[in-house]
Amino acid sequence: MVSTKTQIAGFEFDNCLMNAAGVACMTIEELEGVKNSAAGTFVTKTATLDFRQGNTEPRYQDIPLGSINSMGLPNNGLDYYLDYLLDLQEKEPNRTFFLSLVGMSPEETHTILKKVQESEFRGLTELNLSCPNVPGKPQIAYDFETTDRILAEVFDYFTKPLGIKLPPYFDIVHFDQAAAIFNKYPLKFVNCVNSIGNGLYIEDESVVIRPKNGFGGIGGEYIKPTALANVHAFYQRLNPQIQIIGTGGVLTGRDAFEHILCGASMVQVGTTLHKEGVGAFDRITNELKTIMEEKGYESLEDFRGKLRYID
Ligand SMILES: Cc1cc2nc3c(=O)[nH]c(=O)nc-3n(C[C@H](O)[C@H](O)[C@H](O)COP(=O)(O)O)c2cc1C
Repeated sequence: MVSTKTQIAGFEFDNCLMNAAGVACMTIEELEGVKNSAAGTFVTKTATLDFRQGNTEPRYQDIPLGSINSMGLPNNGLDYYLDYLLDLQEKEPNRTFFLSLVGMSPEETHTILKKVQESEFRGLTELNLSCPNVPGKPQIAYDFETTDRILAEVFDYFTKPLGIKLPPYFDIVHFDQAAAIFNKYPLKFVNCVNSIGNGLYIEDESVVIRPKNGFGGIGGEYIKPTALANVHAFYQRLNPQIQIIGTGGVLTGRDAFEHILCGASMVQVGTTLHKEGVGAFDRITNELKTIMEEKGYESLEDFRGKLRYID
């Protein structure tokens, strides 16, 4: 009776859980692993135009309540993921998958998006706006002027379903300003949140990752309250046509339940998937279904966005 199926941009998914970009999605083998698990779909590693080696190792570390990483966008380049997806959509025409991408400059972002636009790709595209852009400038989505300009340029030529991956915001004014920009465009979804940027984890007297003298993005349990706040802040502010994907701090079915309560239509798992492997999807789905059963909910629509406030 209880179902965790969902839809994004009119595409249906048997389960609302999937991987977060960057985890279990670098190679076709890993993507097949997620595809053949209990996950509803997958998103690829964020693709740049060309192959990137990324930063030197160690660049990822499991830490007690989550993870720290400074990967430097290692990926196999756009064609690797796009060719695989084009092949897959012929083999599995009834399923829809996500392609994550960003350029190392606005120009490269346009080159990549134009290639996707001109291709036969019928899936969903996730533009990663929470990545370094120009040295001396913050990551794109923390620079509202650049974000607005890039989106305006993109929607001049891009007509396929597109969403954006966002970093966490921490100020109510920033939620307002960001939402006002996103509401100007025919975005299909926003994905909240990417890692909390530039944390520092110390063991004995040393940092634990090599790049940037140990500074790295934080994921996992540490970030759930921030992730939920971002999901709900945008759920309250965005046009209802712009759906929310909730990402950050999902370890259990309860965490997924909370993301949906805050307004998420899809829930992504990063650090937990890295620590536990694709078996996490089965476990978290069963835990979510148990909670729904206990509460008498049959579908996500029964509780999505229905977070209660205290008068
Ligand atoms: C090793 C690693 C690599 C990541 N790479 C990407 C990436 O390429 N693109 C992206 O949008 N997010 C990337 N992320 C961020 C995750 O998609 C996710 O937003 C973040 O880890 C928070 O979710 P979590 O608490 O479940 O880990 C990466 C995270 C990790 C841990």
